[in-house]
Amino acid sequence: MINGAMFTSDNCREKLYRSFSHQTMQMRVTTREFAVAHLLGLVILSIFTADGALSIRLPDRDPVGVNARLNQPLKTAVFALGSFWRSEPVFGCLNGVVRTTAGYAGGIKPNPEFRSLGDHAESVQIEYDPKLINFRQLLEVFWSNHDSRQVFGQGPDVGSQYRSIIFTNGTEEVRLAALSKEREQTKSRSSVVTTEIQQLRNFYPAEPEHQKFELKRHPFLLQLIGNIPEEELVTSTLAAKLNGYAAELCPLRRQRQIDAKIGEIRRKGWPVLKDI
Ligand SMILES: *[C@@H]1O[C@H](CO)[C@@H](O)[C@H](O)[C@H]1NC(C)=O
Repeated sequence: MINGAMFTSDNCREKLYRSFSHQTMQMRVTTREFAVAHLLGLVILSIFTADGALSIRLPDRDPVGVNARLNQPLKTAVFALGSFWRSEPVFGCLNGVVRTTAGYAGGIKPNPEFRSLGDHAESVQIEYDPKLINFRQLLEVFWSNHDSRQVFGQGPDVGSQYRSIIFTNGTEEVRLAALSKEREQTKSRSSVVTTEIQQLRNFYPAEPEHQKFELKRHPFLLQLIGNIPEEELVTSTLAAKLNGYAAELCPLRRQRQIDAKIGEIRRKGWPVLKDI
């Protein structure tokens, strides 16, 4: 593992000092040794100056690293709003969302599976940094990304596994959920908002093949993040974002930002191996 944890800044400074004093003081240094020492110095220097966090950025292998460093506990929310293939990307791109997981919730059947999920609903679990986004904002995204008035299904999908549910944890979330549902109902009285509000008990993560489903339909994007194994796609913040991007469900500004970056990579070609 290469990340900030290996290099405290003192440790790093000491290495820098040793490396440079080695270069300047040792008189009978061969050209090759000098080159190695110099290279080492440069490597350490680049680690040291890369950014305040002293880390080399690898493809998102440490998705909770940022929050672990800030010692900021993440919060968790779960919503059901139709097919979880689509629910994940609805939330994956939002600023402050660290992780999304497709899964099953809302029923009593133990250990549900895709082909036998019993009375559960397809759901998405969202881990988020409450300093950057809150439950009320997640509720807004929930309401604006499905038809809460559709009965016994969502979009083209028919069945109670696609029903609309807000899962709550604690009285404040119950209050916010109820308030937002009332507001949604007042927008039109001609049909009934079917959304249930349930206390969250168990969330069962879905099988790996259902995670980041939209991203997996875009091999180029998968390549860009290093073809990480399916299990890692579940925990990766970057995969959650790109999953939102692949489904074109990111907030517009974000969608355009990522679009521009990926366009640049496509134009310039593969950045690492191009010149071999
Ligand atoms: C409810 O929230 C508390 C505090 O954030 C957390 O410790 C607990 O795990 C949550 N419960 C569920 C079922 O997610």
